[in-house]
Amino acid sequence: MRLSSPNINIMVKACRKAAKILIRDFGEIEKLQVSLKGPGDFVSTADKKVEKIIIDELAIARPNYSILSEEVGEINNDEEFRWIIDPIDGTANFLHGLPHFSISIGLEKNKEIICGLIYDPIKDEMFLGEKGNGSFLNNQRMRVSARSQLKNCMIVTGGPKHGLKNSEKILKEYEKFSSEILIPVRKFGSAALDMAYVAAGRFDGFWQRNLSYWDIAAGIILVKEAGGFVTDFEGNNKYVENKTILVANSKINEEMIKVLK
Ligand code: IPD
Ligand code: CA
Ligand code: CA
Repeated sequence: MRLSSPNINIMVKACRKAAKILIRDFGEIEKLQVSLKGPGDFVSTADKKVEKIIIDELAIARPNYSILSEEVGEINNDEEFRWIIDPIDGTANFLHGLPHFSISIGLEKNKEIICGLIYDPIKDEMFLGEKGNGSFLNNQRMRVSARSQLKNCMIVTGGPKHGLKNSEKILKEYEKFSSEILIPVRKFGSAALDMAYVAAGRFDGFWQRNLSYWDIAAGIILVKEAGGFVTDFEGNNKYVENKTILVANSKINEEMIKVLK
């Protein structure tokens, strides 16, 4: 079974083209890692290069669609459709030569996400979702996990970032899950892949604060179409405004909200 629609095919094509460059650049990182200057500038160039390939490809196929992308910001055209792009999610991993990062592309129609793509070029895992048509990992349908009790779950979170002050809340939330509920909490460093992994049933839930829209846009539809819940920490749908997101299977969603309160 395969997810195929005109918009999905356009996203996949743009992503695959960009991924070739991303993989090549990742191969260079190892060498730069040990240099005195480090790979910092190289990575920000890679980021912009990948973003340009994605934007150019999408714009050829859909010249009227608007764009919101992490590095270039807003490109305003059509009011109905908008691409939301994170060219590399997991930059810190990429920079350190850690093979866990992704390309993330979402498509909005009238402010609602209707398509999502998250691609891990190192593991060659393509996560796709489309409203009404389900979520897929390399052409296999995905479902969120069925675990019904938080105490049996494995969850994932992220942050704090380099140089972020006031990270007490982030640390306290982590502490509550790991020391009160006594469950394993992982931090893998790519919010987009964290969400894709919840959609795939690998993790039972994910929460994080201080995220940007491009980190989560594609993940939202992947999780929803895999049968999961996407809310803010209060259980509402103001995750973009509040910059807090909680995704989980429908059974542990409420238990997680209680812990986060
Ligand atoms: C970051 C990653 C990370 C999350 C950060 C994000 P970036 O995105 O998703 O997992 O913890 O909050 O900013 O900077 O690598 O695109
Ligand atoms: Ca990101
Ligand atoms: Ca990024």
